[in-house]
Amino acid sequence: MLTAALLAAMTTACTGSAPHATGSSSRTAKPGAAGVGDALFPALGNGGYDVSHYALALDYIPEANHLKGTATVTARAAQGLSRFNLDLAGLTVRNVTVNGTDARFTRKKNELILTPTRAIKNGEIFKVTIKYDGTPKMIAGSDGGTEGWIETDDGATALGEPNGSMTWFPGNHHPSDKATYDITVSVPKDEDGDPYDVVSNGELKKEEDTGRRVTRKWSSDEPMASYLAHVAVGYFEIHEGWTSDDLPVYVAVDPDESEDAEEVKDLVPEITDWAGERFGPYPFSSVGAVVDHLPDLGYALETQTKPYFDSAPEDTLLVHELAHQWFGNSVTPRQWKDMWLNEGFATYAEWLWQEDHGGKSAQEIFKSFYDGAHPESEGIWDFPPIDPPSASRVSDSPVYGRGAMTLHKVREAVGDKTFFDILRSWTKKHRFENVDTKEFIALCEAKAGKDLTRLFDAWLFSEEKPSG
Ligand code: TRP
Ligand code: ZN
Repeated sequence: MLTAALLAAMTTACTGSAPHATGSSSRTAKPGAAGVGDALFPALGNGGYDVSHYALALDYIPEANHLKGTATVTARAAQGLSRFNLDLAGLTVRNVTVNGTDARFTRKKNELILTPTRAIKNGEIFKVTIKYDGTPKMIAGSDGGTEGWIETDDGATALGEPNGSMTWFPGNHHPSDKATYDITVSVPKDEDGDPYDVVSNGELKKEEDTGRRVTRKWSSDEPMASYLAHVAVGYFEIHEGWTSDDLPVYVAVDPDESEDAEEVKDLVPEITDWAGERFGPYPFSSVGAVVDHLPDLGYALETQTKPYFDSAPEDTLLVHELAHQWFGNSVTPRQWKDMWLNEGFATYAEWLWQEDHGGKSAQEIFKSFYDGAHPESEGIWDFPPIDPPSASRVSDSPVYGRGAMTLHKVREAVGDKTFFDILRSWTKKHRFENVDTKEFIALCEAKAGKDLTRLFDAWLFSEEKPSG
């Protein structure tokens, strides 16, 4: 999906090719780039096209950890394409078609390289269908965590930040290319004849029970970055409800966690209502959570509409992952190095929640970070939030803690009224788009009516610990 800014940049870059497209496409067509040029993750994503929709149809056998899929990817060419890539890790590709005609394909590392029989014209909307199967793998994430398609004690969970989604479907796996999704998963019943649950992003559109297997279709009609795509297969207790704005709530809890997660079904709507007042209207059509039982995983993820928890979460962790629905999921960094726009904001949301609910004030939490007294403050001065030195450090404490501190300094400089106006304007202006830090600074300065260069230099850009 394209943002207005990207579209503008591309129309300038591409002028000339469209009028000549007819007849001369094979001459002007070139291979699409193998990456989108992300500074920290150069191989992620692909150039030359823009995906608008993924339709994923998956058959999964939990007992064998076997996945069989058909991915239909609808995209628009951003150049004449003689061939192009999708990102895919592992699995066996059986067949590929482009606009219904078989296409040649090869694999190279995590790139699936497709050559259609005729070149795709610049601006053309095309459909790629990939049939694949195998045992999906887990991958060691950049920060050492495990991601990808992960088996659990009663099924599996798919987690994708920053690139685990390439283990279960081929795609343009970079956050700069958001798309809508239909995720349909079919699972045979277990040996006792009991059905597994299938939970994914968005809203449940279809439920089918043929007696031997269960199929569920989930749709995300609002754009989603591929690292936020999620499937959970297993046994879950399902709690449905509504927020006070009548937004549907869907909370799935692994029975092993139900006692400890007792409050989650009530906290999700409560936090969503609270965050809506702080950050502006909730961006998507439904909200919820998946509380799984996978304690060895060691992290939670803001999977779109239903954040994923490896065990019953603390209130602040729920706040953090739900805040990401605004910051990260709806308003998404164009490059991974701007991750503080996700993590600094979600961390600051935790501080605001505590302040509003009888805990420490944001100022007190700020101070304990500054003084190194807070348990999460370790290493926060290792590098500036804006500049993780390598891919392995995108989720380190400066991005979270010092990112949140930066927001606190903005709040201090502009006052509460302007500060919350900035947050609400940010989520409104850039809903479903991609953003960068420059745009955030520009918005702050416009709303504040003053230059904030020194503040941002000190808190976001400088190697040194600011003087306070
Ligand atoms: N985004 C997750 C959170 O804030 C943390 C996380 C999980 C993460 N996996 C990651 C961050 C990979 C960066 C890279 O809760
Ligand atoms: Zn986070």
